[in-house]
Amino acid sequence: VDHLLGIKYLQPQDIALIFQTADQFKEVINRPIKKVPSLRDITVANIFFENSTRTKLSFELAQKRLSADVISFSAAQSSVKKGETLLDTVNNILAMKVDMVVMRHSYAGAAHFLAKHVNARIINAGDGAHEHPTQGLLDSYSIREKLGEVGGKKVVIVGDILHSRVALSNIFALKMLGAEVKVCGPSSLIPKFIESLGVTVETDLRKALEWCDVANMLRVQNERMDFSYFPNSREYAMRYGINKELLESLSKEIVIMHPGPINRGVEITSEVADSGQSIILNQVENGVAIRMAVIYLLAEKIR
Ligand code: CP
Repeated sequence: VDHLLGIKYLQPQDIALIFQTADQFKEVINRPIKKVPSLRDITVANIFFENSTRTKLSFELAQKRLSADVISFSAAQSSVKKGETLLDTVNNILAMKVDMVVMRHSYAGAAHFLAKHVNARIINAGDGAHEHPTQGLLDSYSIREKLGEVGGKKVVIVGDILHSRVALSNIFALKMLGAEVKVCGPSSLIPKFIESLGVTVETDLRKALEWCDVANMLRVQNERMDFSYFPNSREYAMRYGINKELLESLSKEIVIMHPGPINRGVEITSEVADSGQSIILNQVENGVAIRMAVIYLLAEKIR
């Protein structure tokens, strides 16, 4: 594997190696000196054409913890606003002797396009509604950390599946690791092809939660929504949001996840997001170790 474009292109042994490597980096980042000198010879550019808090900051932190040189770029403050193309933008950055590019873009396939046309390692930090591979990896890693293993666990992914690169990367990773996966949401937000990925569909949230060990509550992606077929936020919260009463009425204790950013009171209430059953901030913590592992393993191929 020369790039990380999607979980779809990985094998189970690739994920096992990433997790093993992340375990070692997790130890490093919990030490008083949180850095290793491994990537002193590597320069990474983070180029973000869409907004981000967690992914951008944790990639930057992961690179700094590995002692790489880092440059970060947000399209909104760049010459993209003067009409410069994606390829020109990246080739100009690479002319400054950059080895690796981490990119987020609103177009599905943007990372593949780069991997074909530029001479650098590419990491997809989210491309449209296609994939968000490091999120898929850190989510499965967080389930493994919490429950001991992913294989055999029942995971329901709830909400806006239609627009979700997080859902797709999670489905690919979870299925590869042997979990059972269900998706749950309004039928208007569940794409027709989803069952071909080996997942089942449940439109009743209570039934889905009674079935699962883990519920991953996705963000409703208002920015990608066609409001003519989307229930309003209040209606959504009533049918597909999780609140304390619903959580406590279930026959067993389940693990609650959310990739962030949260629409508090829509897909999840604050009481649930901040409860002892939530591992939302553990997901964020694990994001740094997972991204260190991915960057480290791809950098080995540059040398
Ligand atoms: N989970 C996630 O991708 O969050 P950001 O959009 O803040 O990076």
